[in-house]
Amino acid sequence: MSAGQRQGEHAASPTHVAIIMDGNGRWAQMRGLPRQEGHRRGLESLRRAVKNAGELGIEILTLYSFSTENWRRPHAEVSFLMGLLKHFVEKDLAELNASGVRVRIIGGRDDLAPELRGLVEHAETVTRDNTKMTLVVAFNYGSRDEIVRAARRLAADAAAGRIDAAAIDETAFVARLDTHDLPDPELVIRTSGETRISNFLLWQAAYAEFVFTPVLWPDFDRAALEEALAEYARRERRFGGLSEPANRKAGAA
Ligand code: IPE
Ligand code: IPE
Ligand code: MG
Repeated sequence: MSAGQRQGEHAASPTHVAIIMDGNGRWAQMRGLPRQEGHRRGLESLRRAVKNAGELGIEILTLYSFSTENWRRPHAEVSFLMGLLKHFVEKDLAELNASGVRVRIIGGRDDLAPELRGLVEHAETVTRDNTKMTLVVAFNYGSRDEIVRAARRLAADAAAGRIDAAAIDETAFVARLDTHDLPDPELVIRTSGETRISNFLLWQAAYAEFVFTPVLWPDFDRAALEEALAEYARRERRFGGLSEPANRKAGAA
């Protein structure tokens, strides 16, 4: 267990924060604007979140940008969101790199257009050795898809004799997830008032604290992030164990 995972402990600040950035469409709708404008403002909010997270000492920030289910949206909206990711990588990569941000993309890559896939791989390669902060973009990401892809890799390794089926344990499984090189998020935030997980980090968030805020993603500012961190600091994480006073009592008995 890492220091942040001691049972019964109030973990003051999380190392890894994951955010379900929701509410762009409603933000636009409320203003009589097209949904695309909400997504554009959502990208600005994303940039602000990366900067704020870095300043607040968050080491890893994972942002849910496009889910495997988001392909169900009208073609024009899907294309617009693909374009936004491309725009983000092209326009922001140099600055992210200069600020020491390591970029990682999680999610299925096979469904992405070759050009976008190339850009994403380029962003990861260029920023590979940066250590200030890690920005994980979950794009074409769905937890069930990720878990199925991990299972497929395990099956292939077993079939090829690289692993014994009886030796498959959590460590072997985790090693084949997209997040294999990242610690689990301690805090998951969802904006826009929805209180569901929408196929995000199902495995990794097994013991995460969840904070739901009514703030729509384009309005999510530093104060909102600080409020979520303060809420996290008030939580007691037990990991199936007992709370601290109960622990002490049990130890004394
Ligand atoms: C989040 O905003 C962005 C993505 C899911 C890509 P939405 O587009 O889901 O906004 P609402 O939920 O319709 O308001
Ligand atoms: C979750 O938001 C996915 C992202 C934020 C990328 P959605 O808006 O797609 O989720 P549902 O449909 O409300 O569950
Ligand atoms: Mg939504």
